[in-house]
Amino acid sequence: MGYLRGALMSLALALGCSLGGAAWAADSPKSDAEDLVFKGDAKCTSCHDAEDSPELLRISKTHHGGVGRAQGKLSCVSCHGESDRHLKKPDGQERPKPDRVFGHKGAYLSADERSKPCLECHAGDRHLAFWESGRHKKNDVSCDNCHTMHEPARSQLRKENPTISPYTTTSRQLQYETCTQCHKQIRSQLLKTSHHPIIEGKLDCSSCHNPHGALSHAMIKEESVNQLCTTCHADKRGPFMNEHPPVEENCLTCHNSHGSSHGKLLSERAPNLCQDCHDWSRHPGSYYSGNQGFAGAQNTRLVARSCLNCHNQVHGSNAPAMRGKFFLR
Ligand code: HEC
Ligand code: HEC
Ligand code: HEC
Ligand code: HEC
Ligand code: HEC
Ligand code: HEC
Ligand code: HEC
Ligand code: HEC
Ligand code: HEC
Ligand code: HEC
Repeated sequence: MGYLRGALMSLALALGCSLGGAAWAADSPKSDAEDLVFKGDAKCTSCHDAEDSPELLRISKTHHGGVGRAQGKLSCVSCHGESDRHLKKPDGQERPKPDRVFGHKGAYLSADERSKPCLECHAGDRHLAFWESGRHKKNDVSCDNCHTMHEPARSQLRKENPTISPYTTTSRQLQYETCTQCHKQIRSQLLKTSHHPIIEGKLDCSSCHNPHGALSHAMIKEESVNQLCTTCHADKRGPFMNEHPPVEENCLTCHNSHGSSHGKLLSERAPNLCQDCHDWSRHPGSYYSGNQGFAGAQNTRLVARSCLNCHNQVHGSNAPAMRGKFFLR
């Protein structure tokens, strides 16, 4: 609407004629205007009012419009800048933009410039401690790439072009939808048959990552992959009487973190998975040679769960003697 009027205005000016008095009045600040959301916002909301752009005023329903307003320091200019040139449009010229515009419309500003006002208030937040060294900041991702400010939303997360997702049973906005706008390859992993239940809303990307940056590999929330996995899968932490070295080393030797087309998030199917390290010739041949099946039929010991038919304690075992040593059931 505002746009349309802007366009009409410039058209009218270009043609050298004038629009009706009402349109002119609406495009210059009203002197008797009152604040609508924030202290001192009248200098902006005199034009950007409920009639012009009601969606902008929904900012009153966000934390900024609540706690932020109550603290009395936040106003339109905290984010958009004092914008004097925008306020004092020179006659006959197009209205200059405010100091800062966000979203795609602000793409002409560098990512750092768009994050700057946010950091003026939020730099001290604990979860932003590693923002500067994080992969997002270093790759020109700015606060407003993930956060929207005028529309109330969970953690103010931005979601463009909402799509119909599989497994959606609620209308709750899920965080991963913000992330997979850019991380398309992760989205395709989430759609594989075995996946962490992120689409189902039981886990968020931020259950494992700090999107604001972390010193760890892939910005995960713990120092190592195993520490991360065992915060939730504590039964795999050990120590076990009989440890399986790759498990202690890195869960991702055998598992994918987001999704896999093999069951249980496995990176490969058994027996191949096991045979990457255990040369088949080391195993007593009788366990899976061709003629060991019932009444001389084909051996069935490697079907179905393959090596796991017998070695089902692959994460480590506390069972005594041979059963434990060889991770047998
Ligand atoms: C005299 C009227 C007027 C005042 C006062 C005013 N604006 Fe605007 N503003 C406009 C017009 C006209 C546009 C362009 C059409 C539109 O998008 O509504 C605009 C556009 C904008 C845009 C979008 C820019 C873009 O490129 O899409 C932002 C952001 C903005 N104004 C912020 C502010 C802020 C912050 C203040 C207060 C400091 C303010 N405005 C005060 C008239 C005004
Ligand atoms: C906490 C920061 C913040 C505050 C405070 C804020 N804005 Fe914004 N504003 C944004 C961001 C970010 C966008 C980009 C759109 C979005 O993500 O919601 C935006 C977008 C806009 C737009 C352009 C909308 C469009 O068409 O894309 C206008 C106009 C605007 N703001 C005006 C205002 C006015 C008027 C106020 C005060 C009532 C205000 N803003 C307060 C951050 C803020
Ligand atoms: C003038 C100070 C100020 C500025 C500037 C500011 N914020 Fe805030 N922000 C606050 C306050 C105060 C709160 C509410 C208290 C809290 O939740 O910590 C808040 C809350 C938030 C929240 C939490 C919302 C929720 O649902 O929990 C997010 C996200 C956020 N701000 C992001 C931003 C972004 C992005 C920008 C820049 C576009 C920004 N802020 C600019 C002061 C500010
Ligand atoms: C890559 C996406 C992304 C970027 C970039 C990003 N955030 Fe966030 N932010 C999130 C997510 C996701 C959450 C919710 C985290 C959670 O629920 O644990 C969040 C939460 C927040 C919160 C609320 C924390 C709380 O207590 O719940 C604030 C404040 C915040 N962000 C500020 C910022 C600021 C300031 C910037 C820029 C310096 C920024 N964010 C950049 C994704 C992002
Ligand atoms: C605006 C696009 C964008 C959005 C939205 C976004 N990211 Fe990113 N992300 C990037 C870019 C660019 C990089 C750096 C290049 C790369 O490593 O792929 C990156 C890197 C990462 C990395 C580090 C990868 C590594 O190899 O170290 C993680 C983890 C990550 N993002 C998680 C998230 C999460 C979680 C969210 C949602 C809260 C999110 N991203 C939202 C663009 C985005
Ligand atoms: C269960 C924990 C967990 C969850 C939930 C999770 N990740 Fe990851 N993610 C990891 C781990 C661990 C790595 C490191 C992988 C590696 O080193 O191979 C990783 C790596 C990444 C990378 C960089 C490497 C790559 O594969 O491209 C990106 C980007 C990423 N994750 C984004 C996301 C996004 C987006 C979400 C939400 C949709 C998400 N992650 C959810 C654990 C998780
Ligand atoms: C924040 C908690 C959390 C973290 C951290 C976590 N997981 Fe999970 N994991 C889950 C949940 C929840 C499920 C689903 C359990 C269910 O459906 O019963 C799951 C399921 C699994 C499954 C079984 C998948 C299937 O198809 O049945 C595997 C394997 C797994 N996780 C491995 C890992 C690995 C490896 C890591 C570390 C990269 C990890 N998890 C980190 C919560 C977590
Ligand atoms: C040597 C390969 C290997 C390594 C390393 C490994 N796993 Fe597994 N994991 C498996 C196999 C094989 C299965 C399937 C077991 C089955 O179907 O009985 C599995 C199943 C799982 C399951 C789902 C079934 C269950 O038992 O709960 C979880 C959760 C899991 N692993 C977590 C982990 C975690 C956490 C780590 C790291 C501490 C890890 N895994 C390291 C091979 C491995
Ligand atoms: C990344 C390499 C790796 C993978 C993959 C792997 N293992 Fe192991 N495994 C080892 C190492 C190293 C040892 C301990 C050294 C040894 O004694 O051979 C071991 C020990 C064992 C043992 C005890 C043998 C002994 O002599 O003490 C069994 C049984 C075993 N693994 C079964 C499996 C099964 C079943 C799988 C597939 C689910 C598997 N392993 C996948 C590396 C691996
Ligand atoms: C029918 C049950 C069974 C199946 C199937 C099976 N194993 Fe075993 N495995 C055993 C038993 C029992 C032992 C104990 C050692 C012995 O009897 O010599 C053993 C021992 C081992 C050992 C330690 C001894 C050695 O030779 O290093 C490894 C490693 C091993 N198995 C890996 C595997 C792998 C990999 C597979 C899948 C390709 C597999 N096993 C399939 C029952 C089985």
